[in-house]
Amino acid sequence: MLRIDHHLTADDLSKALRRDAVEGLTAHPKSLPPKWFYDERGSELFEEITRLEEYYPTRAEREILGDRAGEIAAATGADTLVELGSGSGEKTRLLLDALGAAGTLRRFVPVDVSGDFLSEAAAGIGAAYPGLEVHAVVADFERHLHLLPAGGRRLVAVLGSTLGNQPPAERVSFLGDLHSGCTERDTLLLGVDLVKDTGRLVAAYDDARGVTAEFNRNVLHVLNRELGADFDPAAFDHAAVWNARAEWVEMRLRSQARQRVRLAALDIDVEFAEGEEMRTEISAKFRRERIEAELRAAGFTLETWWTDSAGDFAVLLARP
Ligand code: SAH
Ligand code: AVI
Repeated sequence: MLRIDHHLTADDLSKALRRDAVEGLTAHPKSLPPKWFYDERGSELFEEITRLEEYYPTRAEREILGDRAGEIAAATGADTLVELGSGSGEKTRLLLDALGAAGTLRRFVPVDVSGDFLSEAAAGIGAAYPGLEVHAVVADFERHLHLLPAGGRRLVAVLGSTLGNQPPAERVSFLGDLHSGCTERDTLLLGVDLVKDTGRLVAAYDDARGVTAEFNRNVLHVLNRELGADFDPAAFDHAAVWNARAEWVEMRLRSQARQRVRLAALDIDVEFAEGEEMRTEISAKFRRERIEAELRAAGFTLETWWTDSAGDFAVLLARP
C-alpha cells in the first residue's frame, strides 16, 4: 500500500525559497541553504555523485549497512523505518531486507523535501516490497517533524551524513526536536562522515568530471526558474574548501567577474564583486566524541558505533 502525504505545497515552497533567497543574498558573506539543490535535476545529480570514485561516503555507508543491518534489526525490533532525507532510498533497502527477515517490519516512512523524486522512489520501494505499507511524506525535516506518522516501534534513520549539512546551531535544535518526537521504544540510526585526510575530503567535493560543480550550480538554475532570476551559472566557479577550525567542507560559488543579477519575483538586484564567494553548503565531518556529546546534549545515549573497514564513515545507533 502506497500513501503520500504532502506538507509542502507549491506555495509553501515558494515562500520559503523567497525568504531564504532574500536573507542569504543580501547577507555578507552571501549564502544559500543546501536544501534548494534538490529539484528533480539536483536529486539526479546527487545520485550521480554517489557513484563517483572520489565520493567515498555512499560506498562506505553501504558497506557498514551490508555488514550490520541484521544486528540493527535485532537491536531495534522496529516495525516502522522512518528515513529523513531519504533520496533514492537505495541503501535503505538493506535495512528493509533485514527488518523483513527479522519478521518485525510493517511500515516504511520516507521523508524528503524533493517531492517528485520521493514519489518515484517510494513507488519503486512499494513495488519491490509487496505487503509493506509505504507512507511517504513530502516535508521539510527542519520544520515538520511533529507531522510524521507516530505509533509502533520506530527506527528513525538519517543516513548519508545529511545531518552534517546543518550548521551546528540548527543541528542542536534538530536533534532536540527529534528527541522530543521519540518514545522510549524508538531508536535513532545516524550515518556520519568522519574527519580524515584533507586531500581526500576536498576531492570528494571537487571531482574530476565536474559533477559536483554541476550540482552546486544547480541552485542557480532553481533560482532562475522559481524566482525569475537571471543568473548565468557558467559565470560562477565551483569551489570546495576544508574549514579546519569548524571541521567541515564548504561548497561555494565564486563569481568570475563583477556582475549584477536580477531576481524579478523579489524585485531585487544583487551585486557580486569579481571573485566574491557565496556559500551554498557545509558538510560537517565528525569525530566520535563530538557527535556523542551532541547526541547526549539532545537526550540520546549512543549505544553502538560501527565504521567501514577503512574507518572513513560511521553508522551509530542511539536511544532516547
Ligand atoms: N539519504 C540519501 C540521500 C542523501 S541526499 C543518501 O544517503 O544517499 C540529501 C537528501 O535530503 C536529499 O534527497 C534532499 O532532498 C533531502 N533534504 C535536504 N534537506 C532537507 C530538508 N530540510 N527536509 C527534507 N529533506 C531534505
Ligand atoms: C547529502 N549530503 C550529505 C551530501 C554531502 O556529502 O554533504 C551532499 C553533497 N554535496 C556535495 N556532494 C554531496
